[in-house]
Amino acid sequence: KAGLNTQRLGCETHFFETVESTQTEIHALARAGAPEGTVVIADEQVKGKGRLGRSWHSPPGSGIWMSVLLRPKLELQRCPQLTLVAAVAIVETIREQTGLPLMIKWPNDLLLNGKKVCGILTELRAESDCVDYIALGIGINVSSASFPSELADIATSLSIEQQGQAPLRTPLIKRLLEKLEELYFLYVEQGFSAIKPRWEAHALMLGKPITARRVNSATLQGIAIGIDEQGALLLRMEDGRTEHIYSADIDMG
Ligand code: BTN
Repeated sequence: KAGLNTQRLGCETHFFETVESTQTEIHALARAGAPEGTVVIADEQVKGKGRLGRSWHSPPGSGIWMSVLLRPKLELQRCPQLTLVAAVAIVETIREQTGLPLMIKWPNDLLLNGKKVCGILTELRAESDCVDYIALGIGINVSSASFPSELADIATSLSIEQQGQAPLRTPLIKRLLEKLEELYFLYVEQGFSAIKPRWEAHALMLGKPITARRVNSATLQGIAIGIDEQGALLLRMEDGRTEHIYSADIDMG
């Protein structure tokens, strides 16, 4: 909390050397009634979680492995927008701090030179039709010098992209929480339209052909032309129709 210039995010911060996953910790705190803005940070995760049941490589000392508890008063279907809000906060923070030209790959990947440097995992708990809380997980590869062979072609770190120079984690976390709070408050007060142009300014694939692999639904190919007011990806199909994609894995081309 020292020197942290926020009203709510980081009001309570829990540091761990090793955890299974900071998401597991934040879920437990949330169920125990922890306030909005509670943050869990770990040096190492031994069971880091990615999207769609995947794992997230989180070795000691090499990244920012962090979860933030949010309790927004939002309609359920608007919650996926928070992933996009977080993406803008991370991109703007890292660009400011390092000058590295991060780009957003819808919905939750941040890339540098075509390789993944950061992932966002937004997990929602709802009771009947109301949001109970959101566990916003952020993983940033900061100082990893290399990755296991299965990740080497698809993952990178801030250090690798800066010839071995890695920014310090603490100031980066501080700026990130400040930026995240600024954008989160802006989003809650003014809605997604206040965030959308900032998201589009850093979007990787607008105007490009992509393939969207949807879970339990047909794979679609088209041109990514933007996002709608809900944060869904807009795909222009060959026949001129526009499809709204709410959840998918995206491949370029
Ligand atoms: C993805 O790209 O699939 C999302 C990766 C999210 C990783 C972060 S690291 C901190 C938090 N705790 C986890 O177990 N996962 C998220």
